Amino acid sequence: MIKFWSYKREFKKLKKNILKKVENTLSKGVIFFGDELIKFEKKFLSKYKSKYGAAVGSGTEALLISLKAINIREGDEIITAANTAIPTISAIVNSGAIPRLVDIGNDYLIDCSKIEREITNKTRAIIPVHLYGQSCDMDKITKIAKKYRLKIIEDCAQSQGAMYKNKFTGTIGDFGCFSFYPTKILGAYGDGGFIITKNYKDFTKIKRLRYYGIETLDKKNIYKNKYYSNENGFNSRLDEIQSSILNIKLKYVDQFISKRIKLANIYFKELKETNLVLPYPNKSNKHVFHLFTVFHRKKDKILKQLKKNQIETRIIYPYPIDKMKGYKMYNFNKEKLIISSKKSKGIFSLPLYPELNISEIKKICKTIKVIMKKLDWLK
Ligand SMILES: Cc1ncc(COP(=O)(O)O)c(C=O)c1O
Repeated sequence: MIKFWSYKREFKKLKKNILKKVENTLSKGVIFFGDELIKFEKKFLSKYKSKYGAAVGSGTEALLISLKAINIREGDEIITAANTAIPTISAIVNSGAIPRLVDIGNDYLIDCSKIEREITNKTRAIIPVHLYGQSCDMDKITKIAKKYRLKIIEDCAQSQGAMYKNKFTGTIGDFGCFSFYPTKILGAYGDGGFIITKNYKDFTKIKRLRYYGIETLDKKNIYKNKYYSNENGFNSRLDEIQSSILNIKLKYVDQFISKRIKLANIYFKELKETNLVLPYPNKSNKHVFHLFTVFHRKKDKILKQLKKNQIETRIIYPYPIDKMKGYKMYNFNKEKLIISSKKSKGIFSLPLYPELNISEIKKICKTIKVIMKKLDWLK
């Protein structure tokens, strides 16, 4: 069986290091806001050449806290892509705002030519979602944001290490929101997230918001003001155990990304003779292949055969946001969201994580080619 994803092989490799580190961390007697967190925040920011940022409890909370940091009020509107993960929308709704969905292009990213028509006098921000590991067109988004004085909150949950014109995703907009959910390129063994910010004022705000509104920047004040909130906030902490695991894994993240790109290139090479629609890496991007998502109008026949051959796949995501009961009240105009609807019916993702062997990727490709040949779907 080739699993779609599993952390077990990675854990086997890193087990000695991780268990030693966790034991060491627990022996220090500090569960939250200790040395491991401070070290991780410093290293993460230095990796992304950013001055300000803070770790939080998850990618969803990173988005929610960023929205709260720009003082979103009930009824404000936020623009994002129709094919995003549910958490992008739940963060928008939980901030009090209304999501405005924009259709996508063939690259599965927000279609920038359709953003302006969704802007109203209530629009406050755009959330570009760098889906599957590739950046949205940040020049176009920045231009629109400037024109209408909107904030940009990048959803980088799937784009750790990805670049747009040699700039890291998460460092281009006003806020960059990362997820350390275990399946992600830099995954913890639990939940975690990070917000990168551009300026000190936003930084102080996210630091307060992640910890009940308590002022924590001045270390001496942590204790003095521990029971005093300056504004209503959240509980969104990255604990010492997850921080220590991430401190180990951060060292390997470039290796993880290189391996993903290498495996993706094998998929590209081997599958080009099939009539599967392969991913579209844009020229200005460094695509990090969080997912290798392909499209076929009659995908079910392929998926059935792959399952028979013990190859796991996943559909990410089978339902665009406008098709979900949970968001029906927004009466999204489905006519405007045709591409994301069409894509959702034919997409599926193939296994792609650094611990897969080249031979396994080749086996997947061979199996697909045999299936496609039988269906007369080779080019
Ligand atoms: C595009 C996108 N946004 C947001 C999130 C939310 O991240 P988390 O699971 O860490 O809350 C995820 C991950 O599930 C995601 O894929």
